Amino acid sequence: MNIDNQLIVIHTPKNNKYLAVVDLKKEFTTNEGKFKFSQIKNIPSQVKTSTGINFKIYKPSYKEFVLLMKRGPQIIYPKDVAQIVLESNIHNSSKILEIGSGSGALTLYLYTLLKNTGKLYSLDSSKKNQRRADKTISRYISTLSEESNDINFLNEELVNFNYKLLNEDIDSIITDVPEPWEFFKNNKIKNSIYWVSYLPSMTQIMRMNNILMDNQFQDIEIKEVILRDWVVDEKIVRPSNKLVSHTGFLITARYIEY
Ligand SMILES: C[S@@+](CC[C@H](N)C(=O)[O-])C[C@H]1O[C@@H](n2cnc3c(N)ncnc32)[C@H](O)[C@@H]1O
Repeated sequence: MNIDNQLIVIHTPKNNKYLAVVDLKKEFTTNEGKFKFSQIKNIPSQVKTSTGINFKIYKPSYKEFVLLMKRGPQIIYPKDVAQIVLESNIHNSSKILEIGSGSGALTLYLYTLLKNTGKLYSLDSSKKNQRRADKTISRYISTLSEESNDINFLNEELVNFNYKLLNEDIDSIITDVPEPWEFFKNNKIKNSIYWVSYLPSMTQIMRMNNILMDNQFQDIEIKEVILRDWVVDEKIVRPSNKLVSHTGFLITARYIEY
């Protein structure tokens, strides 16, 4: 197995996890010990450190990858990604427009869901963020055995975006930008779609709610995902004291062209 340049998680006995790319010429150092990448013969496997303890080596899951990866803009947390996918009714041949590529955390998950019958457009005004997102996504995709089709990055300000030019009936629009209502300055939706906006504050949600109502969207719902982990072992069964507090609100809606 050629493991050079492969993306791995290094999982230590103290339950610390590190994301790394194998470089057979280098070693990996933590405060629990170090090892040479050349000691890794397979993925998954275990390696013994210089201090004699075992580190587990395996491929990252999506969740591990996005939580451990280097980021630019704030990502959408996996708990919210899961709800967004449900609310935007995504299936493997969906045609999706994502507004706000950012660090590519949501883009990557959407990509993994689509087969080559689906299509993914991702718009951002920042070329720098899109380049970084593209690089991050390619790094993770290389760990997958199956590839979907391409991500179509659109580099422009939302306010200048002409939805008609996509020439495609989009099924779901998902936004993670501070002012998603700018979409409606120059565009009118004329095909049936699901709309999901992720917004950190309730004042933004209120404004978006008004815009969706003005544009004849139906089934408008506002929600927040609160996820609580539990600790379970022989003597203890209690909620974890590590709680991700507020991340963002979701406003979800549907437009149906009757
Ligand atoms: C918070 S980040 C998105 C993070 C992304 N959802 C993720 O999970 O990694 C927001 C992105 O929206 C972009 N953005 C903000 N306002 C915009 C606008 N008016 N038009 C286009 N892009 C915009 C920013 O450049 C930034 O990259």
